[in-house]
Amino acid sequence: MSFLMNNYLYNCLKYLFIKIIFMRKVVAIIRASKFEQVKEALAGAGINFFTYYEVRGFGMQKGEKKVYRGAVYDAGYIARYKLEILLSEEQVDSAVQAIQSTGKTGTIGDGKIYISPVEEVIRIRTGERGKDAV
Ligand SMILES: Nc1ncnc2c1ncn2[C@@H]1O[C@H](COP(=O)(O)OP(=O)(O)OP(=O)(O)O)[C@@H](O)[C@H]1O
Ligand SMILES: [Mg+2]
Repeated sequence: MSFLMNNYLYNCLKYLFIKIIFMRKVVAIIRASKFEQVKEALAGAGINFFTYYEVRGFGMQKGEKKVYRGAVYDAGYIARYKLEILLSEEQVDSAVQAIQSTGKTGTIGDGKIYISPVEEVIRIRTGERGKDAV
């Protein structure tokens, strides 16, 4: 019983700690065609910093076929951009909102956003850490 209680308490504290102390990494996989709009919406939300790369991948419908100029393309060959943004916890909602409102077409293949905790961020130039370094 006390073991269970300790375990429960430990998990609660761990969760709280992560929630309060950790920064966030927001990853978004978007249509390449939506990149400029997403970038502008993020800038509008005060987020002018991210890393991006061109990626390829498959979603749920990996057999999905698209017809383009008479040829059939597997959806896996549609170019997408992957954005990686380091943020403080308070900035996450506005980032998600900016990406979702501009990245959405409503058709399959619009992409994904996922969020994870980041233990530490360090600004190389100044040595600042944590939220100050975001
Ligand atoms: N579970 C996943 N893990 C990693 N990458 C993923 C995952 N799901 C989708 N992706 C990436 O996102 C891109 C777009 O996926 P897609 O939007 O088709 O996802 P979906 O879950 O099939 O949603 P939808 O039903 O809207 O098509 C993929 O090409 C792939 O790069
Ligand atoms: Mg899909």
